[in-house]
Amino acid sequence: MSAQILLPDAVDRAGAVLAGGGLVAFPTETVYGLGADALSGDAVGRIFRAKGRPADNPLIVHLADAGDLGRVAGAVPSLARRLAAEHWPGPLTLVLEAHPDVPSVTTGGLRTVAVRVPDHPVARALITAAGVPVAAPSANRSGRPSPTTAAHVLADLGDAVDVVVDGGACRVGVESTVVDARGGTPVVLREGSVTREMLGLRDGGPAGELEASPGTRYRHYAPTCDVVVADATALHDVVTRHLRAGARVGLVASTRRPVPDGAESVARFGDAAELASLLYRALRDAEDAGVDVLVVEAVDETDVGRAVMDRLRRAAAG
Ligand code: TXA
Ligand code: MG
Repeated sequence: MSAQILLPDAVDRAGAVLAGGGLVAFPTETVYGLGADALSGDAVGRIFRAKGRPADNPLIVHLADAGDLGRVAGAVPSLARRLAAEHWPGPLTLVLEAHPDVPSVTTGGLRTVAVRVPDHPVARALITAAGVPVAAPSANRSGRPSPTTAAHVLADLGDAVDVVVDGGACRVGVESTVVDARGGTPVVLREGSVTREMLGLRDGGPAGELEASPGTRYRHYAPTCDVVVADATALHDVVTRHLRAGARVGLVASTRRPVPDGAESVARFGDAAELASLLYRALRDAEDAGVDVLVVEAVDETDVGRAVMDRLRRAAAG
């Protein structure tokens, strides 16, 4: 069976599929999510099977409105209230004590739950139409680059989802920042476009805490070609070395850089935010173009550059 593709004006139909226990892929401002009723263990179980996702990697629960937080969180401390007020709707996920109604399959067996209100009108209209909180990981096969278009979702999961709502390309392009909001200060579990600076962590916050998010343990974002990250100063030499070795070399570089002879330009970017928005598409395009090595120019690890470099390192390690 293959997925039904719906346009955003059909969110009521897609919402009914969610309410009935089905799987609906939908756009958010970050990446496409693979949604199911977060309060139904059976529906959420289908997400894990469709993605081939390890059972101990918990899902993010999506709400249409911060006012619904009490349906999924057992407690909402003042830090969480403040972060929600400042950043929702938006690409910030809060880890909180889980409400007993949230099944353990959704939380990967943890006593906490990850929650966010996406900043995308289609996503929020869909969740409202469903009438339930919507659990949604990125809508890729486990280990693949996250999807930023409906076509990416169909390529990975076309046979496994009931409906794909096609809302065009995602604006941000990297997944939400995940923050443990149970204590007095935010603890960053996954980097995203809501930066440490925006969270008020002036010196970057505590180090080493990234271990605490189960998903960061797994291999991620790996296309079938090799990914090599190079500083601007080394870019030309790195490309030349791979070309000399007989490889077809794809390049993702700043528009300020000339494309070395023999390299195939896959994407160009103006700044780190633009690289974030096109990175996953570039990984898939490089694959489709059949290049052997994709060389990507590094960006400064400030602001959204931190999230971009985190994802690039994982892609390169795969
Ligand atoms: O932008 C996003 O966050 C996208 C869109 C669809 O909202 N979703 C997404 O989901 O990236 P996923 O499943 O690919 O990544 C969720 C991350 C994983 O690293 C997971 O381990 C972590 O959030 N996570 C979920 N629940 C958690 C919890 N209770 N404690 C700690 N980490 C948690
Ligand atoms: Mg993911």
